[in-house]
Amino acid sequence: MTVARAAVVERTGEAARIEALGVAPPRAGEVLVRMLAAGVCHSDLHVRDGDWPRPGSIALGHEGAGVVEAVGEGVDPALTGRTVALSWYVPCLRCRACQAGRQWLCTGSSSLRHAMPDGTSRFARADGSPVLPYCGIATFASWSVVPVDAAIPMPEGVPAEVAALIGCCVSTGVGAVTKTAAVRPGESVVVIGLGGVGMSCVMGAALAGAVSVVAVDRVAAKVERARSFGATAGVVAGDDPAVTVAAIRDATDGGPDHVLEAIGRVPTVELAIEAAPPGGTVTLVGLTPFGQRASFDVFPFVDGSRRLLGSNYGFAVAATDFPRYGRLYLDGRLPVDRLIDRRLPLEDLEDAFDTLRRGEVLRQVVVHEHDPR
Ligand code: APR
Ligand code: ZN
Repeated sequence: MTVARAAVVERTGEAARIEALGVAPPRAGEVLVRMLAAGVCHSDLHVRDGDWPRPGSIALGHEGAGVVEAVGEGVDPALTGRTVALSWYVPCLRCRACQAGRQWLCTGSSSLRHAMPDGTSRFARADGSPVLPYCGIATFASWSVVPVDAAIPMPEGVPAEVAALIGCCVSTGVGAVTKTAAVRPGESVVVIGLGGVGMSCVMGAALAGAVSVVAVDRVAAKVERARSFGATAGVVAGDDPAVTVAAIRDATDGGPDHVLEAIGRVPTVELAIEAAPPGGTVTLVGLTPFGQRASFDVFPFVDGSRRLLGSNYGFAVAATDFPRYGRLYLDGRLPVDRLIDRRLPLEDLEDAFDTLRRGEVLRQVVVHEHDPR
């Protein structure tokens, strides 16, 4: 039997434990992936810290890529050997949303249950007790069985670590700008929060032809770095939101066409709404802990015909969007590799979480180690 090393959260709020788990062979409609790279996303931290309660023992990781090593019944054997980017929201392809082509709104996704489509897990401990794969992909595991519709073959030449990031932060950020907000050439865009998701919004804005892209973060070094992703101006956010809003207005000739929030904190959600001028569109990308509420002054919002949008997973249709983002990377138009600041072994995951909390770096990538073959 295949044995994976995985990062397991037994009880939220406690450190993720690196454990050896047995991996059963792929069943019908599933594939076995030798995981190569997995990005450390703020959503992993939400789960680890208990911001989003999850049932039972769960093997973490939802941003990853690897190579298909075996396929289950009914899966095209030609998939074997292909590098795949993994989608953390496998579409059921049957519900009304999927049928309408809006797979990010799928109501039948097995990812919601953190299991395979048949409701079970291929991971088990030595005593036989199952461990659930986070979103059905568990990318911090060195081997993982995933539903075939979550495994998207990438164009030749896309490195696994780039494919991994396309699986979450790139699709979330680029898609929020190009698909949800549908930014048009010549518009002005403000991005609040410059982690992997926010920097991908900046890349998306440049790709969409925005003429003015203003990058906002409380960390000055990130504001500076945003220029290499296409930002044309920057604002270092201090403690007073009114000062930040004024700086945003100054940088965008009175106010931007679009404001995107890519952090998931109530004060910055309120800041994003405040920064939008009449006619402006606010797109919320960051996910808060469960149960948080934001407020805003309703009269000027309506009077100014502003718009407020939510964007989950950048409206990703993985099967077509992931390879498209891969080709844009190969073409030099989405510098995804520049997001990677640190590569680490799985053992250092808790240290990576601490670094992420401090907001010091962009993307950290777990590089899975495998015996020479
Ligand atoms: N003002 C400005 N910038 C801030 C503030 C603030 N009050 N608080 C945090 N930031 C910045 C951090 O400095 C960091 O650069 O927001 C950025 C957040 O980046 P990451 O922690 O790397 O998060 P990321 O992985 O990009 O995810 C962002 O998207 O899907 C969600 O769950 C995810 O909520 C998370 C969000
Ligand atoms: Zn993520």
